[in-house]
Amino acid sequence: MSLKDSIESVKNDFLTEFASINDSTGSESIRQKYLGRNGLVTNLFKELGRASNDDRPVFGHLLNQLKNELSEKINSIQAEDRTASDNELVDIALPGKLYSSGSTHILEQTFNDIKKIFSDIGFSISYGPEIDDEYHNFTALNVPEHHPARDMQDTFFVDKDIVLRTHTSNVQIHLMEEKDPPLRFIVPGRVYRNESISYKSYCLFHQVEGLFVDKSVSFAQLKGCLEYFVKKMFGSDCKMRWRPSYFPFTEPSAEVDIWDEQRNQWMEILGCGMVDPEVFNSVNYDPKIWRGYAFGMGVERIAMLKYGIEDIRLFYGGDIRFLRQF
Ligand code: PHE
Repeated sequence: MSLKDSIESVKNDFLTEFASINDSTGSESIRQKYLGRNGLVTNLFKELGRASNDDRPVFGHLLNQLKNELSEKINSIQAEDRTASDNELVDIALPGKLYSSGSTHILEQTFNDIKKIFSDIGFSISYGPEIDDEYHNFTALNVPEHHPARDMQDTFFVDKDIVLRTHTSNVQIHLMEEKDPPLRFIVPGRVYRNESISYKSYCLFHQVEGLFVDKSVSFAQLKGCLEYFVKKMFGSDCKMRWRPSYFPFTEPSAEVDIWDEQRNQWMEILGCGMVDPEVFNSVNYDPKIWRGYAFGMGVERIAMLKYGIEDIRLFYGGDIRFLRQF
């Protein structure tokens, strides 16, 4: 069969076949059959090489025409199909879908409030490890080896002397190991305790540690700083009280309570004090030159007081009805 006859017969075959298809699936297989890599039209192009020099441009032209004609026909059926299916699926009169967007968790919001208050008065923000060795969590903080705080009851051990930190105070040590004084930091983070669970205590919670070291730091400054914080956080009519306390890493030490209007009782929100000289010794700061104050506050308790939240466990339940209120 001459090339010209082949072109004619391929075209006729195509037209017969094309007349019987009516959707885009059929049109796709016909496209493959004629125009695909091994398609009938594609193969005719390969035969062009056998034509004489005079015939080649003529057949080349005919073949191109055929190819264009076929693909136009196939495209038209596919386009029709698309419009038809679009019309079926989209009802432009339907109301739009409402996508609800997530929001910042109430604990994160409280962290942000605390960070803002302290950055405004010159504190930088730093972070430290949640899994740490006993040295940073206890020893360097002057917590002696047989102190009850190290007891298996309170501390989650990961390995022989590796713990889930029980407070953010471990980062006091990391900061002072890494930097020369003076320094002024807050450290937000998560801490873990093997405690009995109640409305105000959970096995994990969040703290913000504060550490200020300079040559003339006083307890009066610590008091001023935390009173400023409490007023900013809870408003100026909030009732707060100072209680003397004990921590191995501060001397003297104190705790701050806030009046809990809902329960008619005091709720402790933080511990603090002047950095104990023993702590300075463990990080090679000269305690004759440097003084410091430190504090550690409980973020859940602050949020509970501020927003009247009844139970610390609500923060971790992921109950959307609780989370939506904030
Ligand atoms: N680390 C103490 C606690 O978790 C709080 C604290 C921090 C006390 C810094 C004094 C100084 O209870």
